[in-house]
Amino acid sequence: ALSSVLILNGPNLNLLGSREPDVYGTASLQNHIESASAAAAAHGLTVKSLQSNSEAELVEAIHSATGTVDAIIINAGALTHYSWSLHDALRSFKGNKIEVHLSNPSAREDFRHVSVVSGVVDGSISGFGGLSYVLAIHALVALHAS
Ligand code: DQA
Repeated sequence: ALSSVLILNGPNLNLLGSREPDVYGTASLQNHIESASAAAAAHGLTVKSLQSNSEAELVEAIHSATGTVDAIIINAGALTHYSWSLHDALRSFKGNKIEVHLSNPSAREDFRHVSVVSGVVDGSISGFGGLSYVLAIHALVALHAS
């Protein structure tokens, strides 16, 4: 059953709104979390969220997620491209997992073309700005409805 979702955000995502607005838009991370929480609430789901600039804190949050939440939505920021610790931690989490990005990393610099997270999640949603988080909620709801 799906009743709670943890939304994790990695390095620099606390700067959303002021960071490269041409790439990431002008809305804050809080705005995106609120939109995703509203979409989740419409389906009776509760959302917890954590943003951290620390890889260790994100790894520990994934450990704590087991038995605490039913699913994880993660935007790992630049850690997406090289964090095998996050890869292994996500591998250990039993519930559904969705990778999200505001931008479309495949359309950007070469170093963003590899995700070490993609192989250990159910699927990835990229390129829709803050809507990527909302779409991830809808994907989880749809996965659990079928
Ligand atoms: C990002 C894409 C990453 O390449 C980048 O390092 C980020 C944000 C995104 O949401 O588009 O920090 O994950």
